[in-house]
Amino acid sequence: MSLTLDFTGRNVVVVGGTSGINRGIAELFARHGARVAVASRKAEKVADTVAALEGHGAEAMGFVADVRDMGAVEAGLKTVHDAWGDFDVLVSGAAGNFPASVNGMSANAFRSVVDIDLMGTLHVMKASFPFLRKPGASVVNISAPQAFLPMPGQAHVSAAKAGVDMITRTLAIEWGAHGVRVNSVVPGPIGGTEGMARLAPTPEAIGKVAASVPLGRLGTPDDIGHACMFLGSDLGAYVSGAVLPVDGGWAQSGCGGMGAFLGKLVQQLEGQR
Ligand code: NAP
Ligand code: COA
Repeated sequence: MSLTLDFTGRNVVVVGGTSGINRGIAELFARHGARVAVASRKAEKVADTVAALEGHGAEAMGFVADVRDMGAVEAGLKTVHDAWGDFDVLVSGAAGNFPASVNGMSANAFRSVVDIDLMGTLHVMKASFPFLRKPGASVVNISAPQAFLPMPGQAHVSAAKAGVDMITRTLAIEWGAHGVRVNSVVPGPIGGTEGMARLAPTPEAIGKVAASVPLGRLGTPDDIGHACMFLGSDLGAYVSGAVLPVDGGWAQSGCGGMGAFLGKLVQQLEGQR
């Protein structure tokens, strides 16, 4: 068996891959030789990311789809399959988040996050399955610490991402029989991202979060990409059903008091309304 992080000739699809962590993952695979396809709702973000991937010397393509729309996801993934054939690695990371208490959000607001994160992941995985026929094919779902740690203002995200991780673990069993590995990566706080900006909206808050990570720093998209590359490569050939925190030890410390911080933030935001 060859053990390699050279993805030359491999087809990698990153859904929700046009900004932040997921774009970093897409760019990392491109820098390591993969053909990379990305997808999200906004055509300009897709075009910009495809250009950046090509800038790394990669063959790249993209499609526009809202992951809440199974038909659009199926049609988009088919264009990638028509062009390149079966997928080696699928990364599913489209998500939405905003800080709001259950009492401070409508049922529709809760549903919108569940529809994007949980149903979106289900759509992406179901639509990809017919194209995951290569030996060693694998899926990496991007989860979040809210999946296992409740935080005020994050019930919608917790419900959705806990569901994502249980899909990961269940499909590791169901799809293992087809030779497909399925794992989740759970990023800690990643600097310069939309997710961080929404939950830690000031430089002071960002500094406190960074200091609360046992390794003493925020993560980078490359930190998450490296885990995805490991899981998507032959090095991860016997890893399936894992829910892997990549967070500098943050989850082990109860996410550094993020719950208490978010409780105050939500009170403040909802007091202003
Ligand atoms: P981001 O930049 O907002 O990335 C979200 C991506 O998903 C974008 O490409 C966005 O593009 C796409 N997207 C959103 N809604 C979509 C929809 N309905 N259909 C299709 N695509 C959609 O956020 P991020 O902070 O980097 O987060 C990326 C992932 O990491 C998420 O799964 C998040 O839960 C997870 N995470 C983040 C952190 C963090 O510190 N940032 C920590 C833990 C976990 P369009 O706007 O064009 O649709
Ligand atoms: N507090 C309470 N409710 C909120 C809210 C907030 N901060 N932001 C949005 N909502 C509600 C809306 O009012 C709406 O509910 P309503 O129909 O009862 O009024 C519902 O959520 C859907 O909002 P809408 O803006 O129509 O949804 P959308 O599909 O256009 O966008 C979101 C989805 C809300 C998740 C949006 O924040 C998004 O697109 N996020 C993607 C980027 C992101 O969140 N990145 C972070 C990393 S995960």
